[in-house]
Amino acid sequence: MYRSVFRPGLFAGQVVIVTGGGSGIGRCIAHELAALGATAALVGRNPDKLRAVREEIAAEGGRAQDYVCNIRDEAAVHELVAQVLRDHGRVDGLVNNAGGQFPAPLKDISAKGWEAVLQTNLTGGFLMARECLTQHMQGHGGAIVNIVADMWGGMPSMGHSGAARAGMVNFTETAAFEWSQYGVRVNAVAPGYVASSGMDQYPVWMAENIRAMPATVPLNRFATEAEISAAVTYLLSEAAAFVTGVTLRVDGGRPNVRGGTPMPAPQHAAEPFNGFHLAATPRVLQAREDNDASA
Ligand code: ADE
Repeated sequence: MYRSVFRPGLFAGQVVIVTGGGSGIGRCIAHELAALGATAALVGRNPDKLRAVREEIAAEGGRAQDYVCNIRDEAAVHELVAQVLRDHGRVDGLVNNAGGQFPAPLKDISAKGWEAVLQTNLTGGFLMARECLTQHMQGHGGAIVNIVADMWGGMPSMGHSGAARAGMVNFTETAAFEWSQYGVRVNAVAPGYVASSGMDQYPVWMAENIRAMPATVPLNRFATEAEISAAVTYLLSEAAAFVTGVTLRVDGGRPNVRGGTPMPAPQHAAEPFNGFHLAATPRVLQAREDNDASA
């Protein structure tokens, strides 16, 4: 079972929508929430991936249901939230985790590519949050967590995604204010480099860059998916009842690196937390382990 640091039954009777729940960080979050008693409504575009996660959760005695939806499509998002409400009668939480981007320098990004990344990483999250608010949370309260990224100070070779994520942070702040009157809290989590299946979506030429990432992080390693999930779980939980409008960085201190100051040499490794029993090393990092082993 998932080894959450949070108490069993924390989300008993609650329904939480997790977009991008079919893989990577979203899959991990869905597992943790279900292990704590929530019904996880898994949203994504790939029915096979969603079904697989639903079956994993069910096999462990958890509750999950899969919903195929393109979060860029306003009418589809409206219908999705309506369907979750028909099926379960409530939506207590929303984790806006679905996202995606492609590496490219700004000068090579077309309007179509820019729009696509903004729709997935900004507009889609807004539509999901608005529909959860207007169809249910407005009358019952709730908690929303938006997954953004370590884009502070710019996001070279991912400028479209950086702009979208920065927009999502500002949306989080405005929504926290406007929706406070309904008892709806809105926060964000900004992960740094996470060892997750999402890494395997990038082109092969990025492999060396990916493997070099830990050396740019003060805590000198990748995050685990479970470390991101724990932050999300906290923000959804009653422990965060007075927390709204924040963006919680979970990035090993990477934005605290200042130009010119050498990275402190690691003396004592900060142990990772990995409560996700099904976590797998992404292929791009497995190759490194194989190479290390054969070196
Ligand atoms: N995951 C990545 N992009 C998505 C989209 N447009 N809709 C749902 N899930 C997604």
